[in-house]
Amino acid sequence: METTHKVYFKDSSNLSEVESDSIDLMITSPPYPMIEMWDSLFSSLNGEIKQTLEDKDGKRAFNLMHQELDKVWIEVTRVLKIGGIACVNIGDATRKIGKTFQLFPNHVKITNFFQENDFIELPCILWRKPTNSPNKFMGSGMLPPNAYVTLEHEYILIFRKGYIKRKMPPKSENRYNSAFFWEERNKWFSDVWEDVRGISQNLNENNINQKNIRKRSAAFPLEIPYRLINMFSLYEDMVLDPFWGTGTTSLAAMISARNSIGYEINSKFMGLFKKNMGKLRKLNNEINNNRLHQHLEFIKHYRNKVKDIKYNSALYKFPVITKQEIDVLLYCIKNYSEDENKFILNHQKFEFAQ
Ligand SMILES: C[S@@+](CC[C@H](N)C(=O)[O-])C[C@H]1O[C@@H](n2cnc3c(N)ncnc32)[C@H](O)[C@@H]1O
Repeated sequence: METTHKVYFKDSSNLSEVESDSIDLMITSPPYPMIEMWDSLFSSLNGEIKQTLEDKDGKRAFNLMHQELDKVWIEVTRVLKIGGIACVNIGDATRKIGKTFQLFPNHVKITNFFQENDFIELPCILWRKPTNSPNKFMGSGMLPPNAYVTLEHEYILIFRKGYIKRKMPPKSENRYNSAFFWEERNKWFSDVWEDVRGISQNLNENNINQKNIRKRSAAFPLEIPYRLINMFSLYEDMVLDPFWGTGTTSLAAMISARNSIGYEINSKFMGLFKKNMGKLRKLNNEINNNRLHQHLEFIKHYRNKVKDIKYNSALYKFPVITKQEIDVLLYCIKNYSEDENKFILNHQKFEFAQ
């Protein structure tokens, strides 16, 4: 199987290289309005934002920043297929404007846009970001009533374009091959994720410079797009990230044997992306091995409760809980080539040594 991955270093408010109704899944994390690290980017997109912030008009700055994001969401609406899914990772912002500490609920603004523009809202996921710092609490210390709750979660907002679910050919082999395990379903489709650091630590280890770039880029953990891609798309689908950053969504698409397109206004992240690509084959094998070993571990415990498991994986031969998992198949990367921000990958079936 072959997949292609293309990155355009330009403003995603115009996705002119992408045909209408051609994208199966959009996964992205935009710059977060009213988080200071993104002030200069929003101000470069609209000069009025800088002035409004200087004038301490928080509400207007918040609205203007979302108007910039809306331009991209309009394009996303055009290029997504009917029945395609849009997943937006976003955090709310807290900020002192003048002397007043307040919340800017980014997830509400984005939800409003999608609800008003042909999308159906689906249940969202909250993922918890670990904050251990004793200084994380804000406000009047131990004295009521003016202490503030700390934000320790982000949202993954999930929308479907249109009322109609995506149509699948009956018994589509690709769909059954793209199945995930029963116990993964139970974990991934839960509305609170508390365990998302995991596999992203394999990228950028032992390299302080790369860690810094990742921090400045506000990259999300690889586990997030990896799960979402496996939850909401099939092998060979096309995944779009209009706020590509360091390309985490494309890396996740690569190890999940999907195609991808990214847009990024800042080309400086390409170096880090290429470095991470060099580690991708190894990481892909590790992730596959982990998933299959975790499945075997799960089956061992499950057997204590239920002696007779009815089904077996056709390829891997181990037991699976449901009929839908029989054709589960994982791919790994055989080789890849690169040509001007376009990557072509060859994938092969992943063999599992138990
Ligand atoms: C939160 S970061 C995305 C991080 C990414 N998910 C990752 O894992 O690296 C948002 C990115 O959007 C980019 N960006 C902001 N506005 C943009 C626009 N209008 N067009 C394209 N890229 C934009 C920023 O440069 C930044 O890299």
